[in-house]
Amino acid sequence: MATAPDNRLSLRGMTAADLPAAHQLSKAERWPHRLDDLQAMLAAGAGIVAEIGGEIIATTMWFPAGERVFTMGLVIVSSAYRRGGIGKLVFDAALECVGGGTLVLNATLPAVSLYRSFGFRSMSEIVQHQGAAFQVPVAALEPGERLRPIGQREHSRVLALVENATGLKRDATMTALIESASMVGLDRDGDLVGVAFFRRFGLGYVVGPVIAPTIVEAKALISHWLGSRAGEFTRLDIPAECGLSPWLEELGMEKNESVVTMVRGGTLPAPVGEGRSFAILSQAFG
Ligand SMILES: CC(C)(COP(=O)(O)OP(=O)(O)OC[C@H]1O[C@@H](n2cnc3c(N)ncnc32)[C@H](O)[C@@H]1OP(=O)(O)O)[C@@H](O)C(=O)NCCC(=O)NCCS
Repeated sequence: MATAPDNRLSLRGMTAADLPAAHQLSKAERWPHRLDDLQAMLAAGAGIVAEIGGEIIATTMWFPAGERVFTMGLVIVSSAYRRGGIGKLVFDAALECVGGGTLVLNATLPAVSLYRSFGFRSMSEIVQHQGAAFQVPVAALEPGERLRPIGQREHSRVLALVENATGLKRDATMTALIESASMVGLDRDGDLVGVAFFRRFGLGYVVGPVIAPTIVEAKALISHWLGSRAGEFTRLDIPAECGLSPWLEELGMEKNESVVTMVRGGTLPAPVGEGRSFAILSQAFG
């Protein structure tokens, strides 16, 4: 692929053999991904790595999310090599590989100006909540609504719920997630109208994505997982404007860092139907 002007740095496509080195870069940032999480990411997308003398010093990944829509993540430059233009070089090469379309990512604060220089615009904020010691009261639901398990024949309905609420069509990623995660559904008069995933991530667990018609049902879905896993380290990444933050804090799920959702080359399709996103899949998946 591309070679930097000083000839020391070379870029190439990421392979499975690069994942342990990518994992070390991610761990150095205290990001929570396990090697398994990175393997799932590469299975769902693609990436590039930058090498100097055989050492991987930077990464960027991207994931298909619809027709000419991609999410991007795992943008890291080793701390020893920062502020020398490598971030720009690697990200530019990744954009060339992706080849245009609508691009979505969740930016950490130091990276916002990098993405802005490539034409990304800030759209919204994602707030991380996490904790292990929480008290979860029983959540109320509307008449006709109940939480229930999701049957295998409803998997396409789950895909549609997530796609309609987020505007992102990630069939391969979501199908893999459905296979490996636990799910609880929200039933209204026999219709599946909400879902919350629960899965291993980093040091503990994550609740997400969560799709529900309103905040009342979202709280019920999230309470289901937090209530049955009190004492386990659990995390949620929620859209700042969804209104769940004060409630999560009351439960003991402390607010941690936030990231900025940025978009280039268009806007995300608006939600279709009544489902809304109350927790995202993960920051790095976009
Ligand atoms: C963000 C990151 C990838 C930038 O890599 P880099 O090699 O230092 O980037 P560059 O030298 O190409 O700089 C590109 C632009 O990013 C911005 N930037 C980079 N580091 C910054 C910082 N610490 N604070 C503010 N802006 C910063 C600047 O606008 C810079 O342009 P300039 O040098 O012309 O002002 C790197 O700092 C990193 O890996 N950080 C930790 C992981 C992370 O947060 N990744 C982003 C995930 S969304």
